[in-house]
Amino acid sequence: MENERRIGRREFLERSAAAGVILAVGSSPLLAAGMSSSAGPQRSGGALNGMLYQPPRVSPDGLLLRARQATAEIAPGVHSPIMTWGDGPVGPTIEARTGQRVTIRLENDLGEPTIAHWHGLRPPEAMDGHPRFAVDSGRSYDYDFEVGERAGTYWYHSHAHMRTAPQVYYGLAGLFIVRDDVEGGLGLPSGERELSLVLQDKLQDASGGLAYGVRGHQMMEGFLGDTAFVNGVRYPRVEVDSALYRIRVLAASNARIYRLALSNGAPLVLIGSDGGLLEQPVELPYVDLGTGERADLLVDFSAVPAGTTVRLKSLAFASPARGMGMMGRGMGMIGQQGLPQGAELDILEFVVTRKVREEVRVPRGLAPIERLRRSGADRERVFRFDSMMMNHTINNRAFEMSRVDERVPFGSTEIWRFVNESPFPHPVHMHAAHFQVLSRTGGRGRVLPWEQGWKDTVLVYPGEQVEVISKFNAYRGIFLLHCHNLEHEDMGMMMNFAIE
Ligand code: C2O
Ligand code: CU
Ligand code: CU
Repeated sequence: MENERRIGRREFLERSAAAGVILAVGSSPLLAAGMSSSAGPQRSGGALNGMLYQPPRVSPDGLLLRARQATAEIAPGVHSPIMTWGDGPVGPTIEARTGQRVTIRLENDLGEPTIAHWHGLRPPEAMDGHPRFAVDSGRSYDYDFEVGERAGTYWYHSHAHMRTAPQVYYGLAGLFIVRDDVEGGLGLPSGERELSLVLQDKLQDASGGLAYGVRGHQMMEGFLGDTAFVNGVRYPRVEVDSALYRIRVLAASNARIYRLALSNGAPLVLIGSDGGLLEQPVELPYVDLGTGERADLLVDFSAVPAGTTVRLKSLAFASPARGMGMMGRGMGMIGQQGLPQGAELDILEFVVTRKVREEVRVPRGLAPIERLRRSGADRERVFRFDSMMMNHTINNRAFEMSRVDERVPFGSTEIWRFVNESPFPHPVHMHAAHFQVLSRTGGRGRVLPWEQGWKDTVLVYPGEQVEVISKFNAYRGIFLLHCHNLEHEDMGMMMNFAIE
């Protein structure tokens, strides 16, 4: 039951050595970033936690991303092999304005093929980071396109076929933030009052290094770690003032679904989803995010006394996976190492350190959204997501690089129905177009409050059917529809469609 794609730390190191890559021991991005605990690491849950790593903010204009293997301090005093395309344990945060030109060179020094995809952006075909454009180590890929999207929290990650899961796990992911004038006029918290969090869950080996391996049941369910990592650092903490913060959250785990909430019971104010701002803020006790999804949140610490720690956590929920009795437990003995899906998980500590007097203002209206109407659709297609035996398929087929399964006329509006009769949840992601969620039947039975606005990824639980509507009017070309559970994706739950 061993997966040939399983990669342990030892194998990782061997591959690195075989590829002639020198692990940059001592060049700790966290230390370089001033991580080394001037405030003193704190002990929590038996493990030391350090300060949140805040990636450098960079312009996409002439940016060089060099993918390579390195070593990073992933927790105070704990060094691990990582993959990086800057220096840090997650990529630099790219910040652009709508309409801005992007000129990025990806250099691959990783020792294996890779390619970068701009998740949520809709660039031309050759700029989209489809796995057929993956470059071998020693080569580079040049991107040149214009940001066409409204203000929002997008991201970028490796999309090398059959290597996406380990490459994203080891660090080849980062945020791509887009700003525009509509957002600029809202007076949202910015500068120090804006934080971005890339959430992942990971496992550490005996020496503390990151461990990745998919065995037994996780070949079906996807990789589940046992500890939260934020921006590449284990369960960190961040000091905040008693003020209103804008907090962008990206769920970048391989398979874990988060139910985000605050430990003090304060609500989360959702202002944006995958494709930017909603029309109005929504106050919610929690927000669910599947892998690939984003939430743009306002969090109010103004009533929290200085000296208080508030945890961002994932609340416990019933695992949507089915049939765990037979398979899960039996195979769990050899396969299950991480926390089960739906287990409670502490993610990060906000430490309120400074009392400030600031007027807290949540705008009442945000940004207009053009509604796509069911009556405006030209046709409907059905996609069945199946996980049987060790196969993950869409409409009974596993991914093939050059096979095109659907042809969509350029400029058309279509309803796509995602059907999940498999035992596992599938976060379904579409390239090249954004969608609006029209309906959900079965399972949770409704469109959830955090699924408003423009989306590019939607969670489909076992027994659910989710209808989304999109307009395919960005570019012609071959693009992907896939499950964003990274193990499912690597094992073939992905298909090409052509816009023509
Ligand atoms: Cu976030 Cu095709 O990917
Ligand atoms: Cu994408
Ligand atoms: Cu899936």
